[in-house]
Amino acid sequence: MISKPKGTYDIYGSDGKYYNYINAVFQNVAELYNYEYIRTPIFEDSALFHRSVGETSDIVSKETYDFKDRGDRDITLRPEGTAGVVRSFIENKMYGDTNQPKKFYYSGTMYRYERPQAGRYREFTQIGVEALGSDSPLMDAEVISLAYRLMEEMGIENVTVKINSLGDKESRDNYREALVKYLEPHINDLCSDCQNRFKTNPLRILDCKVDQDTEILKNVPKILDYLNPDSKKRFEKVLEYLNYLDVDYEVDANIVRGLDYYNHTVFELVADIEDLGNASTIAAGGRYNSLVSTLDGPETPCVGFASGVDRLMIVLKKLRAEEIKNAIDVYVLAVNEEEKITALKLVQDLRWSEVKCEMDTLDRSLKAQFKQADRLGARLLILLNSEELQKGIITVKDNLTHEETKVDESEILDYIISNM
Ligand code: HAM
Repeated sequence: MISKPKGTYDIYGSDGKYYNYINAVFQNVAELYNYEYIRTPIFEDSALFHRSVGETSDIVSKETYDFKDRGDRDITLRPEGTAGVVRSFIENKMYGDTNQPKKFYYSGTMYRYERPQAGRYREFTQIGVEALGSDSPLMDAEVISLAYRLMEEMGIENVTVKINSLGDKESRDNYREALVKYLEPHINDLCSDCQNRFKTNPLRILDCKVDQDTEILKNVPKILDYLNPDSKKRFEKVLEYLNYLDVDYEVDANIVRGLDYYNHTVFELVADIEDLGNASTIAAGGRYNSLVSTLDGPETPCVGFASGVDRLMIVLKKLRAEEIKNAIDVYVLAVNEEEKITALKLVQDLRWSEVKCEMDTLDRSLKAQFKQADRLGARLLILLNSEELQKGIITVKDNLTHEETKVDESEILDYIISNM
């Protein structure tokens, strides 16, 4: 038997219902906020991720799925969705449209060669939005509140938005200098990855999973103390707008994010759910004002977020285990050929009247059909019986109260619809 690759899983049964539910709610919310659907390729030129997510990020240095295609091109399975959207924005010259800002939403699989554990997979699905073309703190507030309301809409309420600002380039340069000065005497006490990060990208050290809880990292200078007046003012505006929108947030100077492209606002939505272990971040994002120009497009300020659908599935299974099931409205019971033909036509008419229904296709006995109707959670049963059919009568049974009603065959559709 061939097994699935490590870090992947099959979505079927109740998982399928959660998966579709999350995507449906997301699509609805994103459309309400006037975001347009975008789909970009699952694989892209490797250079796209090296230049956007960053050479020194864990994602690019350790986690990408890279391969040469048969034409000897360097290809990478996308580890995230932002870079592809930005590539598309530039390649399709969307910056030239009069309709700005461009607001996109997407849903799709991403690939990272991580150590699999609860809520962390090698193939996973992200839903996300990207707003390209506006530098206003209003846009940051819209994106963050969209993420927050999305969780609320799905019934996930114990969520905290952790927010920080990385400031502009000047603020970050000042901070980097202070950080290097602080870390230099301690460098030999850090893990070997951090010793490398110290040379290549010291800010990454703040994100280290190994050194995170050491005294050295607990006492590092805070980036918020190094924001220049413009960056500070900007951050305060975002927080002010979030207050107007009733978003519960917590300023957390430790949020730096593992991707290189961020500046100013960065944020994470964290769910307080045990089952997620250390994968409790259900959504994350921020502003990335330099990414479009880094990828050879015109200066374009952007902000966005992405949320892990697989993690949301774990949360929903815990919080709403009973609710999101797939009960049917009606089960039609039929045994002989005449009854089956009546059932066949009736089931079609019911389905096209928006009634979710099912009939037997396994030649089950009547008793077994009753059991199957229970398994499917049918609310009403239609009991077809040749003798009654000859008199133009159909029996409908309420599966909860067990009450039976005789209905004229010509009125069966109206009866079922009015009892739904
Ligand atoms: P990220 O923080 O790398 O950001 O991923 C966003 C979310 O994807 C995480 O918070 C988590 O819920 C989910 N996720 C990440 N890795 C995995 C995994 N291995 N298994 C399951 N879920 C995972 C980004 O990807 C940015 N592109 C977000 C963004 C959009 N920033 C601006 N716009």
